Amino acid sequence: MSIIPTLKIAGKNVGRVGYGLMQLTWADQPPSQEVSFAAMKAAVDAGANCWSSATIYGPDNANVRLIAAFLKKYPEYKEKVVLVIKGCHDQGAWLPKGGDIDFVRRELKELKEILGDKKIDVYLPARLDPNASVEKVFQNMVTLQKEGHFTAIGAGEINAESLERAAKVAPISLVENELSLFTQDEPIRKVLDWSTKNQIPYFAYSPLGHGFLAGRWKSIEDLPENSRLKSFPWFQGEAFENNVKLVERLDVIAKKKGVTTSQLALAWITQLSPYTLPIPASTKPDRVRANTESVNIKFTPEELDEINTFVANNKAVGDRYPKHLLPFLVSPSTIQGIECWLLTATTADAMNEPNRCLF
Ligand SMILES: NC(=O)c1ccc[n+]([C@@H]2O[C@H](COP(=O)([O-])OP(=O)(O)OC[C@H]3O[C@@H](n4cnc5c(N)ncnc54)[C@H](OP(=O)(O)O)[C@@H]3O)[C@@H](O)[C@H]2O)c1
Repeated sequence: MSIIPTLKIAGKNVGRVGYGLMQLTWADQPPSQEVSFAAMKAAVDAGANCWSSATIYGPDNANVRLIAAFLKKYPEYKEKVVLVIKGCHDQGAWLPKGGDIDFVRRELKELKEILGDKKIDVYLPARLDPNASVEKVFQNMVTLQKEGHFTAIGAGEINAESLERAAKVAPISLVENELSLFTQDEPIRKVLDWSTKNQIPYFAYSPLGHGFLAGRWKSIEDLPENSRLKSFPWFQGEAFENNVKLVERLDVIAKKKGVTTSQLALAWITQLSPYTLPIPASTKPDRVRANTESVNIKFTPEELDEINTFVANNKAVGDRYPKHLLPFLVSPSTIQGIECWLLTATTADAMNEPNRCLF
């Protein structure tokens, strides 16, 4: 029995806080396997048994291989972990490929070889395929689900209009979109409303604003020299200074409540609706536990009002991704043809370094 509140994903009970594995294999300085395993174990033991992974997190399915190695070492965790994997992405061309069923089927067969008898619980296109309609992508998902490659279908980085279209052709079991005190724009709000109305879990990614809301970055020097985050608008010049000040003001609200700012940020997400489920990342077991336990923090109506008023009046400065990646975000399926190819070429150029990311 989980020690934190749960909801159901792909027919299984999962803790209301999940765990993001991206930085375990795709980071400026990825941790050792030993360090990763300790954090992964801490997550499940604390109740964060729903894991967010992707084919793209490191070369040659490194993140999924890490999970397979973990489950080999700790077979008793196989039944406990609920695996959500993003894919449908051609890493060589750096292109979403959900419209190409043969490509996706090959990808799923590779994942099966890595994971053995651990079945993927939820599989989703990480980004919409700019060369295919939403309907085509999700019809492919239905076909592949029927072939038995995974239990349930998810959607990710998608807006409410595209979600409506996807849901007409496929049963959507969760939506993985960004959501945090720093990301409150209208398309995100609409997806939150869609999730609440349809009672579909909202897997909230980067819930700590890539560490900003956890107080990790006070000065730009705190970021490792080659950090990919330095290309993100939040982390540049005056925007960075402004965003640090916002976190300092949130620190005051958190202190008054007797919690950390990370916990405030995560608890706030879990109280936005009964279907939100943040997926914070951390390489440190004690932080994983503290993050997971944040779901037990309850705000009074006055406290919630104070946080919501703060959020409404204080926007993080800067877009949430570099400019050339914005067209892939909660975007409709209308980026077609030549425009897409230009976009992709730019993206691929920017992605030559393995640490530069689209996710
Ligand atoms: N679908 C998508 O496109 C997409 C995109 C981005 C991310 N994601 C998913 O979302 C997950 C989380 O997002 P994210 O990695 O961008 O960032 P995040 O969870 O918003 O923040 C993670 C950062 O916060 C630090 N941190 C975590 N808890 C802390 C605490 N209690 N105190 C102080 N620092 C703390 C971590 O450092 P330490 O390791 O040092 O604790 C790490 O640097 C990813 O792992 C991935 O699964 C999905």
